[in-house]
Amino acid sequence: MSHAQTIQDSLKPIVALCKRRGFIYPGSEIYGGFANTYSFGPYGAELKKNIKDLWWKTFVRSRRDMVGLDGPILLHPKAWLASGHLEGFNDALIDCKACKSRFRCDHLIEEVLGEDADGLSVEEMTAKVRGQHVKCPKCGAQDFTDARHFNLMFHTHMSKTSSDGDIAYLRPETAQAIFLDYKNIVDTMRVKIPFGVAQIGKAFRNEITPGNFVFRVIEFEQMEIEYFIHENAWEKVFDEWLQAMHKWCELIGLKKSRVHEKEHPKEQLSHYSKRTVDLVYDFPFGRSELYGLAYRTDFDLKRHAEYSCTKLEYTDPETREKFVPHVIEPTFGVERTLLALLCDAYEEEQLENGETRTVLRFAPCIAPVKVAVFPLMKKEPLAGKAEEIFAQLQAIWACEYDESGAIGKRYRRQDELGTPYCITIDFDTLENDTVTLRDRDSMKQERVTVKDLVSVLSEKLSR
Ligand code: GAP
Repeated sequence: MSHAQTIQDSLKPIVALCKRRGFIYPGSEIYGGFANTYSFGPYGAELKKNIKDLWWKTFVRSRRDMVGLDGPILLHPKAWLASGHLEGFNDALIDCKACKSRFRCDHLIEEVLGEDADGLSVEEMTAKVRGQHVKCPKCGAQDFTDARHFNLMFHTHMSKTSSDGDIAYLRPETAQAIFLDYKNIVDTMRVKIPFGVAQIGKAFRNEITPGNFVFRVIEFEQMEIEYFIHENAWEKVFDEWLQAMHKWCELIGLKKSRVHEKEHPKEQLSHYSKRTVDLVYDFPFGRSELYGLAYRTDFDLKRHAEYSCTKLEYTDPETREKFVPHVIEPTFGVERTLLALLCDAYEEEQLENGETRTVLRFAPCIAPVKVAVFPLMKKEPLAGKAEEIFAQLQAIWACEYDESGAIGKRYRRQDELGTPYCITIDFDTLENDTVTLRDRDSMKQERVTVKDLVSVLSEKLSR
């Protein structure tokens, strides 16, 4: 079995659950699919929104040193020249001449030879593939082209006549939009260094070997911060952000034991970085990058200042020192967060009665549905009472109403969605105004009076 198939297999139960329960669908499925694109179904959309809202609340609204931005996807083409992406944002590709399959050369070497190819030149990679008689994982032939560079930026044309002069690039990172608005923010927001600008938005990369479900896709969302500092402070600020990123992982409920740091060796740093540490996560297909933290120095602001002929400086209000700020950049992928959360939360639990239940143990702050409300029976007066309670709770939380099937089945449906609490309205409710509150993880049930329901749930959901 090839490595590629093993990777698919380890994610299969999660991919199947995502499709079956409306988290993630293959893109353009009715047209036979469109490779490496995905659609986030109703629960996936809620999950993504919860991740982004919580991130914004944590890193923008709860801090006095941060402001938000929503910049454009299409930036002036010169910006990509200045940032170095036009020249340097490449992957090394190699083609099998026999079956025409195309591979990222570093991935091919890793997959077939089990060797790390990061930092190798295209010539060195070609030599490795030839010298070690690498076989094509698709057809088995030993007949590869030379490895060559391939720019990852998608481009489009700004007018109807397509000439080179009209090319615009879809941003491969949200970061650059922040650098382009650095001056506007300093001029309009009375920010004082150190301060950060946060942005959530789409990024596009023409990844040649995407895969592992939504781990590596061609269209994805980033949550990025460019944190502007005085050069002297970079080591301290870097460490503070590393801790803040770990804290975020804990906040969203990722198991601590599955999150690790990976320091990039000097020779493998991006063109703009002096230090990069990735937070890597133990995905079912192996330990892989979840987030990144980079010390981008003053590279971007200096280059944009040079290419735009605009001063991008900061004047210290006390000392009047003028300088180009340095930047610490914590970056978080939304899709990777979502995939890590799904992998972390997914469990096939063996129950005492011999049955197996599939459960997503999402932290309440992340769960797409917080509370499900069930009338024991569809009929009145239970239904009326259940709808009344549902309306009250729905005004506060994402709730779901389910009246079909046996209660046990309804619990299982909610377990698969990761709903932390289910409420059942039964005949006792009519007698004594209490409902059954069932906990997803322990499956324990307790009676709670209707008048206390909101406060009891508020307390439980805030844990
Ligand atoms: N501004 C810096 C930057 O873009 P990066 O490591 O290339 O750094 C940042 O990307 C984050 O974006 C990654 O840590 C990952 O979470 C996410 N990411 C990158 N490429 C991705 C892809 N093809 N599909 C899904 N997420 C991706």
